Amino acid sequence: MLITSLGEDMVLLVEQASPDPFAAGIFDGVTPFFSPTQVHSKMKAAQYTKYGPPEVIRIVDIESPQPKPNEILVRVQATTVNRTDCGFRSAEYFISRFWSGLLRPKYTVLGNEFAGDVEAIGSEVTSFSPGDRVFGYNDERFGGHAEFLVIAENEAIAIIPSTLTYKEAAPLLEGAHYALCDIRAANVQPGQDVMVYGATGAIGSAAVPLLKHVGARVTAVCNTKNVDLVRSLGADVVIDYQTDDYTRTDQVFDFIFDAVGKSSFGQCKPLLKPKGIYISTELGKRGANIFYALFTPLLKGRKVLFPIPSIDRSDVLYIRELAEKGLFKPVIDREYSLHDIVAATTYVESGQKTGNVVIMM
Ligand SMILES: NC(=O)c1ccc[n+]([C@@H]2O[C@H](COP(=O)([O-])OP(=O)(O)OC[C@H]3O[C@@H](n4cnc5c(N)ncnc54)[C@H](OP(=O)(O)O)[C@@H]3O)[C@@H](O)[C@H]2O)c1
Repeated sequence: MLITSLGEDMVLLVEQASPDPFAAGIFDGVTPFFSPTQVHSKMKAAQYTKYGPPEVIRIVDIESPQPKPNEILVRVQATTVNRTDCGFRSAEYFISRFWSGLLRPKYTVLGNEFAGDVEAIGSEVTSFSPGDRVFGYNDERFGGHAEFLVIAENEAIAIIPSTLTYKEAAPLLEGAHYALCDIRAANVQPGQDVMVYGATGAIGSAAVPLLKHVGARVTAVCNTKNVDLVRSLGADVVIDYQTDDYTRTDQVFDFIFDAVGKSSFGQCKPLLKPKGIYISTELGKRGANIFYALFTPLLKGRKVLFPIPSIDRSDVLYIRELAEKGLFKPVIDREYSLHDIVAATTYVESGQKTGNVVIMM
């Protein structure tokens, strides 16, 4: 590989397979200057230009993004299709359009998770170099469902642990950062009893190992076929919801985390200790969880929280460290190619995936 300067604004990685531009006499001793548009003017992308079912997504050639001085151009090797992508694409909850565009999508390439290689860096970037293997998360501009994306150096991006492949690194952040946000909001302490309802989704399957790392005793609820999987994630007790009613357990919990939004505070309240906390990843019937989150914290007893999820570099580095130490490994259900993204999306939208669905470029 050859690392070369692109004038004042950028550094680019030239693959060894391509002819060395100096050796080829292209620059003839003058300072090379070419913008990435000349290098990667077009790229393959899965694009949606209107809200609707998975079939609105099309594989097209579009302009490659251009990194600003503080940004990194990433060649995507692996990405995911997840429930956030589906929510933005379908605009099923109208409220999502306040972020994604009222009438049509503002950012037309989805994919908030990615793993790939740094292709070029802006002139102000100091912590990454061309050729670095990186993974990251961007749920403002998305962009992972394409050959290239840009992300600012100070956003959610880090070096992939050397033990992980691109496929393993791509799904590290979506489920884990939602789970982390809720575990932190509930202030889970070592030795506390926690129930994870729906431990087989991207969020639930990340929550179990993250809770174990904090030192909690975890009871996980899942279907029959995934009992062994959930046990392998570290759950101390597993309730198979197809054979047992979780609401009839004798246990009581400091925290009940409904990671798939299928329970209710009413059902779970009797299972909570007197100061127990309930969090769901969904709004609940007629937005009940928002309503409860507004008034139950004012009372002394059991309460509902509805934390607003966020992610920053320190979260990425924390999750990276757990992955590097082998304490967290995202569950991967299926792998698709970018060309099969409509099928991948249809599967994810079914709500039946186990863990994560990865797209290889
Ligand atoms: N609050 C937020 O900001 C936010 C962000 C992202 C996602 N979400 C929401 O969070 C939820 C989870 O997301 P995710 O990506 O983790 O979901 P996911 O991966 O699509 O979850 C699917 C898993 O949930 C299990 N499941 C479905 N119904 C269940 C039930 N009644 N009881 C137990 N398990 C059940 C499924 O297994 P079986 O059906 O086979 O048991 C499947 O393994 C989604 O509703 C999503 O919309 C919220």
